[in-house]
Amino acid sequence: MAKKNIFSFYQMKEKGEKITYLTAYDFPTARMAEVAGLDMLLVGDSLGMVVYGYEGTLPVTMDQMIVHSQAVRRGAPNTFVIGDMPFLSYQQSVTEAIENAGRFHKEAGVDAVKLEGGRRVAAQIRGIVESGMLVMGHIGLTPQSSAQLGGFKAQANTAEAAMEIIADARAVEEAGAFAILLEAIPPEVGKVITETLKIPVLGIGAGPHCDGQLLIVSDMLGIFEAFTPKFVKKYANLAGEIVTAFQEYVNEVRSGKFPEEQYCYKMKAGEAEKFTELLSKSS
Ligand code: KIV
Repeated sequence: MAKKNIFSFYQMKEKGEKITYLTAYDFPTARMAEVAGLDMLLVGDSLGMVVYGYEGTLPVTMDQMIVHSQAVRRGAPNTFVIGDMPFLSYQQSVTEAIENAGRFHKEAGVDAVKLEGGRRVAAQIRGIVESGMLVMGHIGLTPQSSAQLGGFKAQANTAEAAMEIIADARAVEEAGAFAILLEAIPPEVGKVITETLKIPVLGIGAGPHCDGQLLIVSDMLGIFEAFTPKFVKKYANLAGEIVTAFQEYVNEVRSGKFPEEQYCYKMKAGEAEKFTELLSKSS
């Protein structure tokens, strides 16, 4: 399948074809996602929690994001890959935002970057776009500011808060973002934003009306077990299967069953006898 670009996503929105989007953090997952035909992959700073075991995303660094983005790029060379700008890689100044978005492109070959926030990061979005790069906005539940939001909580569940989110969505589009991600908001708000904006609207916990859906790969595969947000549908229970496989391995090694003959290398014909002879002479 040909690699998709922003025009493919605009066309998909126009035709009502849903955009499929997953996170990926490593080479094998990215490879499998490309084989499965995903439209977009996000190297999310959620890797801080699901790969590194931090309590949140704040400790994640640009260097970590670059290493994981490079692995995903190698695994999915024909898929649209988005690098997620980590905490304090863009908030402090437009210059810093442009420099770090540039690192994602120069060092990891991503197709776009994503950053969190609405009106308050409009200048950063504009700066990155004016430098020739693509930006996906991210509003609603924005994990990097979860302390200000009172935790990992659903957003826009009052009429006034919903109006604020809509104003943020408009600001992100006006600043030049090519797409926007809505996280953890009620479906009716997701619907209004999807119908109002011209750019594709992706949702993670934003209901069925969005132009596409995102899930965190470790959640949907049942690998990350610390907590499961309401919007997560588990398509597999890999943690259970992996623990069972590990237990079977432990039992077989302890009992001596593994490795069986088919997992052992053979000497060339006649060499085993010669080896025994040499051993007996040397002792
Ligand atoms: O880092 C990430 O995976 C994200 C999602 C939570 C939307 O930004």
